[in-house]
Amino acid sequence: MRIGILTGGGDCPGLNAVIRAVVRRVERDHDGTVLGFRDGWNGVIEDDAIDLDVEACRGLLPRGGTVLGTSRIQPFGVEGGVEACRSTLEAREVDALVVVGGEGTLSCAREMHDDGFPVVGVPKTIDNDIAGTEFTFGFATAVEIATEAIDRLHTTAESHDRVMVVEVMGRHVGHIAAWAGLAGGATVTLVPEEPFDIDEVCERVRRRHSRGRYASIVVVAEGAIPAEGTIDLPEPELDRFGHARLGGIAHRIAAEIRSRTSFETRVTILGHVQRGGTPTAFDRVLATRFGVAAADAAVEGDFGTMSALRGGDIVQIPLEEAVGHLKVLDADLWGTARVFFA
Ligand code: F6P
Repeated sequence: MRIGILTGGGDCPGLNAVIRAVVRRVERDHDGTVLGFRDGWNGVIEDDAIDLDVEACRGLLPRGGTVLGTSRIQPFGVEGGVEACRSTLEAREVDALVVVGGEGTLSCAREMHDDGFPVVGVPKTIDNDIAGTEFTFGFATAVEIATEAIDRLHTTAESHDRVMVVEVMGRHVGHIAAWAGLAGGATVTLVPEEPFDIDEVCERVRRRHSRGRYASIVVVAEGAIPAEGTIDLPEPELDRFGHARLGGIAHRIAAEIRSRTSFETRVTILGHVQRGGTPTAFDRVLATRFGVAAADAAVEGDFGTMSALRGGDIVQIPLEEAVGHLKVLDADLWGTARVFFA
């Protein structure tokens, strides 16, 4: 039995832990071998792969990023890409392919499965927006990094009696913002799921400062949207895959707060720092559990499925349940976060 593995889309802490877990399970418990494709689907299209074994995976568990490399290239976006994948897998005698990725990579995995490819998915993204699983690995690490940053910003903000606007990742959903805002004691948190009114944001900041020398922290997800008819944002640039290049909304919000309240306001954009470095223990464990489950599914021929966390258990669910729509913020959690807004 020969299992292929690839990591696609944006990187995320815990990818190496998945690779290590798949290799360990396949080699030690299924007497199989693993082939790692480089740079996501591109490695399958271009037949660029390396043999992976337990020895090659030593030291991978705590390491951020992905040793296989990653890209957003997909077979359907490249002329002859699907046929190239088919001939690579045949030539390399790969029996099943474990595809580790976010919405884009997993949607492609689902289409490839419909085209007859033996694929098993593993959900990754710091945004935690994949449907069908309670958590994706990488999310807890990103929240930890954002929370530590907010804690640090609190002390400098208090010393100067300033407003700090902190921008976190979260393209379509506000899981990182809501969790980090709640954990870090934000004055207000802005998420893509609920368009914000800048007047209300300023009012909350004023309210907070009116209680004495209280600095405030405004947490904003990069994909937050102003309510219609409030403030205009420039159209974002698109990358070569047509994805909007986000980042920078915090500057616009800070400028509005500064001019409307006259409080001193500063901006911190956390950006890719949230995706870098070593995964938390939770993410290492989740990634490892996903990897073991995906290896078993691949060996058992449970194709077209994705490993998911449900009620604390790891289960295989159909890929079609996971793709096509995003998991938005849970109403209860958002309700709790709002209790603590100023
Ligand atoms: O999807 C994960 C994510 O980190 C988003 O939160 C963010 O908008 C995007 O990736 C950034 O992508 P890139 O690495 O291409 O700048």
